[in-house]
Amino acid sequence: MKTNIADIRRDYTKGGLRRRDLNENPLDQFRKWLDEAISSKVDEPTAVLIGTVSPEGRPSTRCVLLKELRDGQFVFYTNYESRKGSHLANNPYISLTFLWHQLERQVHVEGIAQKISPQESDAYFRTRPYKSRIGARVSPQSHPIPNRGVIVKSFMQESLRYIGREVERPANWGGYAVTPHRIEFWQGRESRLHDRFLYTLQADNTWTIERLAP
Ligand SMILES: Cc1cc2nc3c(=O)[nH]c(=O)nc-3n(C[C@H](O)[C@H](O)[C@H](O)COP(=O)(O)O)c2cc1C
Repeated sequence: MKTNIADIRRDYTKGGLRRRDLNENPLDQFRKWLDEAISSKVDEPTAVLIGTVSPEGRPSTRCVLLKELRDGQFVFYTNYESRKGSHLANNPYISLTFLWHQLERQVHVEGIAQKISPQESDAYFRTRPYKSRIGARVSPQSHPIPNRGVIVKSFMQESLRYIGREVERPANWGGYAVTPHRIEFWQGRESRLHDRFLYTLQADNTWTIERLAP
């Protein structure tokens, strides 16, 4: 018998979030929650859903992995000619949603994505496993391919080409750094009376903090 999905519900009781618990800087608060997600061994703690907007104004989301937090920016890597890449070339506004189910926590970020420098992308690319580097070279991410065999064959050929050589980063693959202007921390609470705190960046580069209704 199929479960009625409307009946799937549970109360969130892991903890609360108070104004006095918050760091004044949302990036420090984020790092604290990320560290807690990592130490709590949640699945894929760095996985984040990113939302972009098509030239027709239609939103779309997909998951990527956060690879760095630096100078107040969130960094992830992808193919610049992918669907998300073409969206960001047209409209750099982006949203990021981290969801740590096991901690009953969510962080929602809105900001602007910019490509990082080729040198920075090179430096990260060199740290990737060999097969991932080859994979980045052969995948025309988001574009139709006739069958899996085509990409497996390219992978084998490219692997042979690079035996004993440094695998070069393809120019269409690299990082984006997201500069946030809005960051919301959400902690699930009982009876759906969740705690939400919103940080908003002001013109003088300070952040305001407001509690939002659940
Ligand atoms: C857990 C997880 C992590 C992923 N990490 C990345 C990533 O770091 N970079 C990336 O380009 N795609 C990543 N993907 C694949 C993307 O979700 C997506 O399929 C791909 O980037 C193409 O998206 P697009 O067609 O919207 O551009 C990941 C998927 C999952 C489920």
